[in-house]
Amino acid sequence: MNIKMPPDWQLIEKRETSSTNDEAKKLPEGSGKTAICARIQTGGRGRMGRRWISPEGNLYVSFCLEPVRLDKAGIYSFLSALSLSQSIERLCPSLQVKCKWPNDLLVKGKKISGILLETDGIKRLIAGIGVNLVPCPQTGLLYPVTSLSEEGYHITTSQMLESLLERFDFWNTCVEKQGTTPLLAAWSEKAYGVGRPIRVNLPNEQLSGIFDGLDKEGSLLLNKDGEIIKITAGDVFFDKIGKDADV
Ligand code: BTN
Repeated sequence: MNIKMPPDWQLIEKRETSSTNDEAKKLPEGSGKTAICARIQTGGRGRMGRRWISPEGNLYVSFCLEPVRLDKAGIYSFLSALSLSQSIERLCPSLQVKCKWPNDLLVKGKKISGILLETDGIKRLIAGIGVNLVPCPQTGLLYPVTSLSEEGYHITTSQMLESLLERFDFWNTCVEKQGTTPLLAAWSEKAYGVGRPIRVNLPNEQLSGIFDGLDKEGSLLLNKDGEIIKITAGDVFFDKIGKDADV
């Protein structure tokens, strides 16, 4: 791919691999900032142990950062989702992209991409990102799916990757220099469903309430009959998904 790389980044391109996240895990120690992309993934992985079907035509990339402070790794959910939403909106100016906590992106209530964050447990952060450029039926997802071409934009993998890398590097540098406040504020402006009813599926229970925004660490705040509950993990469901005019 002939793309402009931000300073200090290297790009590794594969035609076919099981998963770009698995490739990222194999990088030698001290690899710095690396983007690994593939045209086809034969064993693409999604969150919660789901598959990510990965035929040719879509973008599959893993951004690998080392070293990072893994106690702060949760912030990369927001960093990845915000970077992706901004890059899609730059390439596709009429689309409005919403960020669904913690790291899904929705266009008109439909899922346009997936983000799988992984670590090696020591100091390497891997943000695996799949973007639907062309139609691709994913199975077992919680949301209907769309792609940029179905929304009227024909974007190449190179265009998408260049724009995404630029945004990811921008926000990563911003967090290094200014902390997480500007990032979480920008994410919150694009947040899906603030003030609306949500259900949160936690490992052992389901909670319902009103989505009250984020706290300064990026936890979701759920207003349950006036009591504010802090949620740090789980799947979030918004009522009336896909039927709202503004997303
Ligand atoms: C999800 O929404 O469940 C997350 C999907 C993440 C897919 C991307 S594609 C690039 C990287 N490699 C993988 O195997 N998964 C991620």
